[in-house]
Amino acid sequence: MRDVLQVNGGIPLHGEITVRGAKNFVSKAMVASLLGDSPSELRNVPMIRDVTVVTELLELHGVKVDLDEEAGTLRLDPRNVELAHVADIDAHAGSSRIPILFCGPLLHRLGEAFIPDLGGCRIGDRPINYHLDILRQFGAEVDKLDQGIAIRAPHGLIGTKVRLPYPSVGATEQLLLTAVRADGITELSNAAIEPEILDLINVLQKMGAIISVDTDRVIRIEGVPRLCGFRHTSLPDRIEAASWASAALATRGDITVRGAHQPEMTTFLNVFRKVGGEFDVLDDGIRFWHPGGDLRSIVLETDVHPGFMTDWQQPLVVALTQAKGLSIVHETVYENRFGFADALIGMGANIQVYRECLGGHPCRFGQRNFYHSAVISGPTPLEAADIEVPDLRGGFSHLIAALAAKGQSNVAGIGIIDRGYEHFRDKLSALGAEFRML
Ligand code: EPU
Repeated sequence: MRDVLQVNGGIPLHGEITVRGAKNFVSKAMVASLLGDSPSELRNVPMIRDVTVVTELLELHGVKVDLDEEAGTLRLDPRNVELAHVADIDAHAGSSRIPILFCGPLLHRLGEAFIPDLGGCRIGDRPINYHLDILRQFGAEVDKLDQGIAIRAPHGLIGTKVRLPYPSVGATEQLLLTAVRADGITELSNAAIEPEILDLINVLQKMGAIISVDTDRVIRIEGVPRLCGFRHTSLPDRIEAASWASAALATRGDITVRGAHQPEMTTFLNVFRKVGGEFDVLDDGIRFWHPGGDLRSIVLETDVHPGFMTDWQQPLVVALTQAKGLSIVHETVYENRFGFADALIGMGANIQVYRECLGGHPCRFGQRNFYHSAVISGPTPLEAADIEVPDLRGGFSHLIAALAAKGQSNVAGIGIIDRGYEHFRDKLSALGAEFRML
């Protein structure tokens, strides 16, 4: 399989790259277009596989999608939405988690929907119970079948009051996409308030929705009978930006990330500084660099916004292997996001994972069988190795480790990284990395 990147590591990454729109917003805004009765235009769209998957799913449902790759503009015309054939949808089973968000919009447009088995990264159990409970509370009939979920709303969808057990990003989006056209008022407590969700609310407001976000994680939506299309420019991808920042740190390099935006990255920037990285906020991006000398160890806990994002954790851990002393990282969003550390240990890193909640507050995974805390002792030089990409962010972390390690590493399964990192091979070349596809 030609999916192996051979990396000649140990060379600091230097140069400039650009990040475009956020993967975890763009895909949701594409789904939102289904709710409109006129076409939408989405700009700053990155060319990543998740966008392709959602495009194909929308097309199966009769949405006309035109993409200008160069400009990063998508035109989405939902005027002829129709039910897709189960066999066609089934071909997309396992490719992404986004299909679950088609439920509300399709119920409003067609009264029924069929959702294939979901995919996405294997970083925990990733259940969909919150999503299904929400849909049922709006009055939908949900049947879990072998190949997916059949869902109907013969009597329409009615506004409701929901309290999430945990501020789930996907469940909050599910609720928003369902409530905006439901009959009456919906109130969500303990909502997720990630910047990508707030940008989705911007889109829905442009479409005609009435949504207010209170300071205490409460979101209120007044349902409206119709929505129109939108024109919107996506917020930048703060996960990709932070991934390149961690690559600069781990390789002792200097990377300017055009498009990176400070306000959504405040928490990351604080940690980057505490670890010993330097940055400069520019008008149109952020420059990140390693100033020389030793990096400093840190105690860190991942959390929902405005905490330190779980998706920032894996790339940063690679840099922490080069920090002097003991770093403690407590992962509180996913129960199983340290699997990628095995490969780093094989490359010479000193990382121990624990079931206990270390270095922070007790979380819902404490006293259970989940290895969700890590202690990283450094600095330990990384050695080249043959490694296999486990998931999207873990995969990028492996890539960073291979770039930091002196000698030749083979990183297999590199295609997974295309799900969320636009043109990453071109960007690596622009930063002076030495590699070739096998
Ligand atoms: N959860 C449940 N039941 C549910 C839904 C979630 O128990 O019905 C749990 C999950 O198992 C997890 C926690 O709640 O432990 C948080 O999950 P959340 O629903 O917030 O995550 P998501 O919507 O599935 C999105 C991003 C992830 C990102 C998380 C957290 C997309 C497509 N994915 O996932 O991004 O890590 O929010 O910010 O938006 C990535 O980009 O690599 C990625 C995994």
